[in-house]
Amino acid sequence: MTLGNRPGSGPRTALVVGNWKMNGDFAANGSLLEALRASIDADLLARVEVAVCPPYPYLAQAATALRDSGIALGAQDLAAYANGAYTGEVSAQMLADLGCRWAIVGHSERRTLLGETDATVVAKAGRALDAGLGVIVCVGETLEEREQGREREVLARQLDALAPLAAAEATDFVVAYEPVWAIGTGRTATPEQAQAMHAFIRERLASRGFAAAARLRLLYGGSVKAANAASLFAMADIDGGLIGGAALVAEEFAAIARSAALA
Ligand code: PGA
Repeated sequence: MTLGNRPGSGPRTALVVGNWKMNGDFAANGSLLEALRASIDADLLARVEVAVCPPYPYLAQAATALRDSGIALGAQDLAAYANGAYTGEVSAQMLADLGCRWAIVGHSERRTLLGETDATVVAKAGRALDAGLGVIVCVGETLEEREQGREREVLARQLDALAPLAAAEATDFVVAYEPVWAIGTGRTATPEQAQAMHAFIRERLASRGFAAAARLRLLYGGSVKAANAASLFAMADIDGGLIGGAALVAEEFAAIARSAALA
């Protein structure tokens, strides 16, 4: 990561976010949250922002367990609608009410398994920002798209759809680059591969009117663990990580946060 040592880049505080996906129960979450509180202290949080995103039913449990810890809370998704007759949906306002700081939007599992489109993603991200939440928008190409050499074309499409949000504040608008072939596979992008895509993302957002592009946090996600985090976070345009599997192990997640603080 670059801490303001390029002209016009400005400081970018590292951000590490745990995406718990559809895992956990009251007992397991209780232990994990307690261990996170113990290993992610105020010193560390002065250098890196940390958030965890449990499944909806456990947000209240996490909000209570993390109270005054400095570790922020996020949701893994939200509704594209404000409120009303949308059975099963959860609004941005409800998440804010529960104490959420962040919402993840457009995760590839939702894009591929649940048919989420670029139009849905921008609608959801807009709702989150309107409710005062920060948004972490996920983008990334599949293995097939990369093998066809189409990774930039796919990212350009996903990013261009976000243009209506170009006025978003750098504190609240985060993009996570998550190559689908690296998620949950143990196959991480090399730091050089990830850096090339992060630089592309920053330039593309700038060209689409994001005045804050140089100050936006760009996270890498896809099989990040304690062992590979430092080399990824050392890259100029990688400002932290979106962590899946390793976020369920307190010591791994804390070690990843420490690597981000040192980058
Ligand atoms: P992973 O997941 O770290 O388990 O690869 C990352 C993500 O999907 O956000």
